[in-house]
Amino acid sequence: MKMQVCLVLVLVVTLAVVNAQVPHWGSCPEPSTQPNFNFKQFMGRWFEITKLPAQFEKGRCIETNFTLKFDGTARVVGSEILNGKVKRIEGTAVVEDQKNPAKLGISFSYVLPYTPYWILSTDYVNSAVVYSCTDILRIFHVDFAWILGRSRSLPAATVDRAKEIFIKNNIDVSWMITSKQEGCEKHLENLDAGAYL
Ligand SMILES: *[C@@H]1O[C@H](CO)[C@@H](O)[C@H](O)[C@H]1NC(C)=O
Repeated sequence: MKMQVCLVLVLVVTLAVVNAQVPHWGSCPEPSTQPNFNFKQFMGRWFEITKLPAQFEKGRCIETNFTLKFDGTARVVGSEILNGKVKRIEGTAVVEDQKNPAKLGISFSYVLPYTPYWILSTDYVNSAVVYSCTDILRIFHVDFAWILGRSRSLPAATVDRAKEIFIKNNIDVSWMITSKQEGCEKHLENLDAGAYL
């Protein structure tokens, strides 16, 4: 039995490291979220401005497009440019707790459970502060944090204010990295042109 627990732990830690996530001891923090969150107003296109954890540079021009569906959930399309190609993944976002509609869950596959996607703060039109944390056996947790923008860049003061929100909620964002959002439109134009050849 002990052996099995050890194996699970090793596996989880390995997965966390492979994904370049930073595991932290203890269970997840419980940050405050956006009061009276309006799911509909959150729909549309969001660009990734900065993120946690600091991981290897993978794709660039990362964005997420939320579209409301008739059943009240949202279609989520994440896209990035990786090795010169546009990669897309599609999933579903739901309000998991009607009492706290800012606590969304996102799943990119029918077989996977919903991953927390908590809107700590947003003004819907400029920026959003998003946090995701998963407890592992209540021994440690792995987390993700994003600052999103309605445009590909945000004023430094806006990014600083967003970081303050994480810090206030005991979320360590010292390893946040800026996402690359340069030369995206040009690249996408070229791709569109290519589609007609
Ligand atoms: C976002 O998704 C909607 C619905 O699928 C689509 O009509 C729209 O063009 C998308 N926007 C972008 C920028 O990809």
